[in-house]
Amino acid sequence: MKINSARLLSRLKKLNTIGALAGGGNCRLALSDQDKNGRDLLVTWMRQEGLEVQIDQVGNIYGIRRGQRNGPALAIGSHLDTVTTGGRYDGCYGVLAGLEVISVLNEKKVKTRRPLILINFTNEEGNRFSPDMMGSLAVSQPIQVGEIWKSVALDGSGVTVKSELERIGYLGKVKCGSIPIAYYLELHIEQGPILEQEMIDIGIVEKVQGIYWTEYILKGQAAHAGTTPLETRKDAGLVAARINLGLREIAEEVPGQLGTIGLMEFYPNVINVVPDRVRLITDLRNPDKTLLSKAQGMLDQYVQFQCKNEEVQVVRKEKVRLIPVDFSPKVVERITKACNDLGFSSKQMVSGAGHDAQMMAAVSKAAMIFVPSVGGISHNPKEFTKPKDLERGAEVLLQTAIDMLR
Ligand code: HGY
Ligand code: MN
Ligand code: MN
Repeated sequence: MKINSARLLSRLKKLNTIGALAGGGNCRLALSDQDKNGRDLLVTWMRQEGLEVQIDQVGNIYGIRRGQRNGPALAIGSHLDTVTTGGRYDGCYGVLAGLEVISVLNEKKVKTRRPLILINFTNEEGNRFSPDMMGSLAVSQPIQVGEIWKSVALDGSGVTVKSELERIGYLGKVKCGSIPIAYYLELHIEQGPILEQEMIDIGIVEKVQGIYWTEYILKGQAAHAGTTPLETRKDAGLVAARINLGLREIAEEVPGQLGTIGLMEFYPNVINVVPDRVRLITDLRNPDKTLLSKAQGMLDQYVQFQCKNEEVQVVRKEKVRLIPVDFSPKVVERITKACNDLGFSSKQMVSGAGHDAQMMAAVSKAAMIFVPSVGGISHNPKEFTKPKDLERGAEVLLQTAIDMLR
């Protein structure tokens, strides 16, 4: 049995027209109209494949292909939502490759012992609402759905997850986590340079690094840029800049540490006013939990020191605390077998990016399959993966799924 790569590529191309960006990428922010249109298209395709479609309380979409027995399923999942400057594969490639697996099984009239479920998780990216990996978090952790519903859009519009789920018609009734899943597979672009540099076909992901997002609201004092002496300023913007520099030094000092400030908002954000307030969210990552916590502690201390120095107040709020996750050796071994049977080169690796699989590992035996990203570029409209690589990844997904559905 082989995948129909023309069908996979044409579905990707069709989805790519929704939230299309100049340069070929996509912007389908979670629960936006573009996300709704992408969801609607997926549901149409799921129904055409005869899947039973269910929606849960946070808008996760499940396409269920019944097995000869009920009981815990094999799930294949990822996400259709994107970052603001998203590419055309991040997330949706894994969802549509999972749909392709189902199309092949349907074509060949394959009956599987256990159910096979295709999942689109809500808000994996966390660009419009925090936390990221929201849908898989709701399925895998005893997080209160009410908490998630109250999450307010980061863009200041005041809308909440619940109001947007209602608006786009994806506030489902199925209780999060109520659908039994034994195994979880996720196919994804690597979003980094390793596979391309080492000319390896497939990455077999055995671990995902930890992610800490922390919000700092720095409160200084607005003042006239022309009349306020330097020594009397309470310049929130200056403190924010020093925090960025300090974060880079911490990341360079702590082994395996990454530190990023991608979101920084000035208020009033005008040329001739010393910033009164700055809101920034730091993104710290490390495959080692102890080192990740150490780096976070160093950052918090540094923030306090810089604020004190400039007489700026700070309010700190933890937005995401995802620890590093080891995937299931059994599933890693099944993926490895599929690569070997197909004659594809492969290597085991750690994922730098967060993924829904990171959450699903808490409630199922999970692992991931990576395919190369050209130039290691992602979260960028220029994101690209060669059709041959897209095809190989889907073949590995199909073979692994068949092996696990027996
Ligand atoms: O942030 C991440 O690593 C993922 O793209 N959500
Ligand atoms: Mn992704
Ligand atoms: Mn992403």
